[in-house]
Amino acid sequence: VRFVVFASGSGSNAEALYQAVQQGELRGQLVGIVSDKPDAYIFTRAKDWGIPLIAVSPKQYETKDAYETAVLSILEELQAEWLVLAGYMRLIGPTLLAEFDGRIVNIHPSLLPAFPGKDAVGQAFAHGVHVTGVTVHYVDAGMDTGPIIAQQAVNVQATREDTEACIHTVEHELYKTALDQLWNEER
Ligand code: GRF
Repeated sequence: VRFVVFASGSGSNAEALYQAVQQGELRGQLVGIVSDKPDAYIFTRAKDWGIPLIAVSPKQYETKDAYETAVLSILEELQAEWLVLAGYMRLIGPTLLAEFDGRIVNIHPSLLPAFPGKDAVGQAFAHGVHVTGVTVHYVDAGMDTGPIIAQQAVNVQATREDTEACIHTVEHELYKTALDQLWNEER
């Protein structure tokens, strides 16, 4: 499976997937990184990975469709088969969905359908839950609404920072194992 990671920020999940591929734990080929933020830290992290790192700034396009059409032509060049979202802070629109329907996955820091959208950990604290978690799911047109692939619970810690650290640790394990299973089920 040739996959591209979409990220808007730090890229720690992208790095975990890159390492997993290097170590043979994730049977797939990471063929590029796409970001909507030219200054995202992911570009610093990935500078020595030997794969194309591509920034496409939506601001340079008049419509979401025009932006996604530009992204699509890059994906075609990379011969991408699957899109793996890891902290990509935009909804996937009809243009990309039409082309990659059923082959786009996302990771979200809550037990969906609880706490979709931004700041899922903040939402967990606001609601006073004792358990939250991580969800890997297919992407559809909604906000964190697609069919669920894998989930893991995480106990809420005393501070937000500690909770986020636990969530990240779980994310980095769960994403690679869920994707390896998804892509290599028949073996
Ligand atoms: C992760 O918590 C992920 O679940 C969410 O955004 C965060 C991205 O973190 N969608 P990173 O950029 O991979 O470090």
